[in-house]
Amino acid sequence: MNDPYERSAEYIDIMIADAWDAFAPSLAEALGGVDAVEGTIVDLGAGSGRGVRAACAALPDDSPVLAVEPSPALRAVLLARVHEDARLRRRVTVDSGDALNTPLPDSIRALLAMNMIGHLPPGQRQELWARVAPRLAPGGRVILNLAPPTTPAHVPPSLMANLAMGDLTYEGWASAEPSGDHQITWHMTYRTLRQGRPLSEVTVEYAWWVLDEPELARELAEHGLSLRPAGQPDLGLYVASLASEGSEFKG
Ligand SMILES: C[S@@+](CC[C@H](N)C(=O)[O-])C[C@H]1O[C@@H](n2cnc3c(N)ncnc32)[C@H](O)[C@@H]1O
Repeated sequence: MNDPYERSAEYIDIMIADAWDAFAPSLAEALGGVDAVEGTIVDLGAGSGRGVRAACAALPDDSPVLAVEPSPALRAVLLARVHEDARLRRRVTVDSGDALNTPLPDSIRALLAMNMIGHLPPGQRQELWARVAPRLAPGGRVILNLAPPTTPAHVPPSLMANLAMGDLTYEGWASAEPSGDHQITWHMTYRTLRQGRPLSEVTVEYAWWVLDEPELARELAEHGLSLRPAGQPDLGLYVASLASEGSEFKG
């Protein structure tokens, strides 16, 4: 599998940290009530493990977690994060597969797909929902976010991260342009600077499949899942649960 993070992985964890400061409380809210549900928490595209850590903090019950991460470089960060924490180390299994080839547990209490669903073309999303829906435990949830843009649109160069560590600063820039029906191409530039002068720069680009809330709701409904927004409104966070559970959903 082509790894869009092969060259940028060193920057991802430090640059997604602020986003996770915002996501973690909303994820905890979205997981409200899941403590009563049995099964495994699955984090698809777990990246450096910030979502795994947030989910385990929200459900601190030592139940199993499957963290699926295909990028070797990001998986190294994930393994280090899990290894450093005795509770995570007991709970979390790190899998090197991807969303479609990883064997899923028979009973899923929560499946996270955070900051990753745009990596899957529409046909692969359909395959994923077809795999997940029958395994979702009663009361279980799929939790994901739709990052803007949700339609193919031009995104001008924007500074998405700027942080200092020691003597150096790190900058991440993002821009995008439409590259097909339901698709954009992200152009990312990551820089390391000393006193404002670039020491190194990495540029990468990758395809990203965009969809909006009504499209996501429609495709999930085909698999018996109903969708609702969750958490802080500007985060684009959604929860899907079995439509047959109707108003029993609490969260
Ligand atoms: C922007 S990162 C987000 C990581 C993490 N979920 C987070 O929010 O911090 C996107 C992740 O999706 C993973 N990914 C890409 N394609 C994937 C696929 N087909 N199946 C599973 N994960 C995938 C990447 O390797 C990467 O870890």
